[in-house]
Amino acid sequence: MTVLRLIAPAKINWTIEVLRIRPDGYHEVRSVLQTIDLHDTVTLTDAVGIELVLTGDAGALADEPPDQNLAYRAAAALQRHIGTTPGVRIELAKRIPVAAGLGGGSSDAAAVLRGCNRLWHADRPDAELARIAAEIGSDPPFFVTGGTATVSGRGEHVEPLDDAIAPAMLLATPPPAERGAKTALMFAALTPEHFTEGEATIGLRDVVAAGRAVNDAELANVFERVLTRMQPETEKVMDALRAQGTSPHLAGAGPSFFLLLDDAADHAALARRVRDLGFEPHFVRTLSRIDALRLEEL
Ligand code: C5P
Repeated sequence: MTVLRLIAPAKINWTIEVLRIRPDGYHEVRSVLQTIDLHDTVTLTDAVGIELVLTGDAGALADEPPDQNLAYRAAAALQRHIGTTPGVRIELAKRIPVAAGLGGGSSDAAAVLRGCNRLWHADRPDAELARIAAEIGSDPPFFVTGGTATVSGRGEHVEPLDDAIAPAMLLATPPPAERGAKTALMFAALTPEHFTEGEATIGLRDVVAAGRAVNDAELANVFERVLTRMQPETEKVMDALRAQGTSPHLAGAGPSFFLLLDDAADHAALARRVRDLGFEPHFVRTLSRIDALRLEEL
């Protein structure tokens, strides 16, 4: 029996900008995405049909029907593409907070696509896996590439970059009650005055290409413009940290956020402060493409 193990890392957006609303209703985005070392673990074994087993901190995922889960849908989408129905038992050990803006579900889906491609000897190239991933959502295609990458379109055009150099980070996630399916609402809250030409993304891409370390001044997130109205709790906690002289950045469409850690800062005190404000602190680092795409046969 074949057993494959992959990690499914979370992501943050170094930049995320919106250029316009597209005719299909989606937003045209420019973003530099980055995998980080907070990750779920995906174990795949041969089975009859598609089985999904959730372990760890599955949160609201545990209550939804298995065939709604993005990981399950990824396996079903690959079956459709190859025109046969080999089976798989998907064990998802969840550590990435669910619905927190960290791309956990999308990452699980990409890991299942890559893993099933191997398990079922489907041998589809990454470009095709990315196209299948785009049927599942706007974020899964990025996770087929991992590491640092620029995305455009609604998220499905992925251009890999060299791994970014960045300091360690403190990620802060709200309690589960503060989370929810906010992405669509966050996009819907944007108006043309929030739209840009994608300059911050071009700037960040140049920083990465030049091998310079990512720093606060170069990060940009369009959703911070609507945070006060849409996610007042996150805004309040970010404001409290700003008052301490730090520069919090929203993770994706929120409600999580992260700080780049300065060597001179008291990291433990910052983590305590995050916890006192009701958010969960996680110390994280960027995860290189090689580590993000690791696939082990056990
Ligand atoms: O693609 P995904 O299903 O992850 O997106 C969730 C929702 O976010 C979409 O239904 C859409 O309302 C919004 N969205 C958008 N523009 C994007 C990506 C997502 O408007 N580029």
